[in-house]
Amino acid sequence: MDLTGREIVLGVTGGIAAYKSAEIVSRLRHLGANVHVIMTKNATEFVSPLTFQTLSANQVVTDTFAAPEYWNVEHVALAKLAEVFVIAPATANILAKMANGIADDMLSTTVLATKAPILTAPAMNTGMWTAEATEQNVKTLKERGVLMIGPESGILACGDEGAGRMSEPEAIVEEICRILKRKQDFAGKKLLVTAGATRERLDPVRFITNDSSGKMGFAIAEAARDRGAEVTVIRGSVTAEIPAGIRMIPVESAQDLYDAMMKEAPGQDIIIQAAAVSDYRPAEQKDKKIKKVNGGNLMLELTENPDVAKAIGEKKKPGQILVGFAAETDNVEKNAQSKLKKKNLDMIVANDVTKPGAGFNVDTNIAALITADGIVEQPLQTKRQLAEKILDKILEIRNRI
Ligand code: PMT
Repeated sequence: MDLTGREIVLGVTGGIAAYKSAEIVSRLRHLGANVHVIMTKNATEFVSPLTFQTLSANQVVTDTFAAPEYWNVEHVALAKLAEVFVIAPATANILAKMANGIADDMLSTTVLATKAPILTAPAMNTGMWTAEATEQNVKTLKERGVLMIGPESGILACGDEGAGRMSEPEAIVEEICRILKRKQDFAGKKLLVTAGATRERLDPVRFITNDSSGKMGFAIAEAARDRGAEVTVIRGSVTAEIPAGIRMIPVESAQDLYDAMMKEAPGQDIIIQAAAVSDYRPAEQKDKKIKKVNGGNLMLELTENPDVAKAIGEKKKPGQILVGFAAETDNVEKNAQSKLKKKNLDMIVANDVTKPGAGFNVDTNIAALITADGIVEQPLQTKRQLAEKILDKILEIRNRI
């Protein structure tokens, strides 16, 4: 990838992996990027600032002789200039400072002020990486959208074996390129996704549900977030990892989903409904555990749930784009076409959930994107890849209306 003219700030903290960061600078320079290095005082104990200065052809910012007044000017300038802010290696100390908003040196001050995407490459002793405090800090940072690569497992500088080794410079540079390549074609758009399974309670300990993991909905939410959308997810029960940097509204039943959607949908530009919603719920929800009846069957009466997608379709705002999913086991396209019309959707993503690698609780999917204009078949691919195709198709629809 050609990075000519791209501005990258690299923070180097005090760990033995600091020497590997010299290679990150030279690789980025080789691709044409302009690299600005900020070193903590401890980092300068491992590698001389002169190394980074020579490789980056820019003045290296350190705390060694800097007075706090100097930080005020410099940290704002570099924080604003950065298109990507990388910290490699990132020690437990800098992660802790970032998680808590501590700004007591040039690097922590600058990273706190930046609005650029932040990529950290943690490197530390396994015990420090697995310490509860570090785990909590990492969780906080990920929830705020801070990106992380590694650490890798192996023999560490201290002789211990386990997770804590900084990712290789080549992988870090690839990740920087990936971040810079991200299209921002959903910037300014509000996008709502539903994900996961509804739960319909029978009694305090039992419920009716399905196998949806949330993977498909979350893949769409992450792709839209990375393409600049302001994303909200209304999620039922999920087993997939909750993505970072996305507003989440948890719900339980189809009725809860209906209530949340009625509140959130009017303000959205795009709504994508990947949740697996139960069509029926127990007619009666017992407040005490249902007891076993010895001998004979237990009959359950079910009553219909609201069709959320249909209700949203009936209240569709001008210019709004509505996308539904259809989980089918037979007559896939015919059934999906009928849902497209009945629910007033602009597109329906039909997946045959009987096919290996498609549907519930797998990382891949096979689908057909069905619109009024026709059908585009999507062969086996990751849910993230399919999510990107769905977003591309939405842009096509948007350009038509
Ligand atoms: O979460 P994963 O494990 O990744 O699995 C992904 C998935 C299989 C759940 C997903 O790809 C999918 O197909 N989601 C839709 C499942 C479904 O409920 O399909 P349906 O054909 O029953 O419903 C059609 C559409 O109407 C869906 O957009 C659904 O959200 C919506 N619906 C359905 C019933 C109902 N009462 N209200 C609704 O809004």
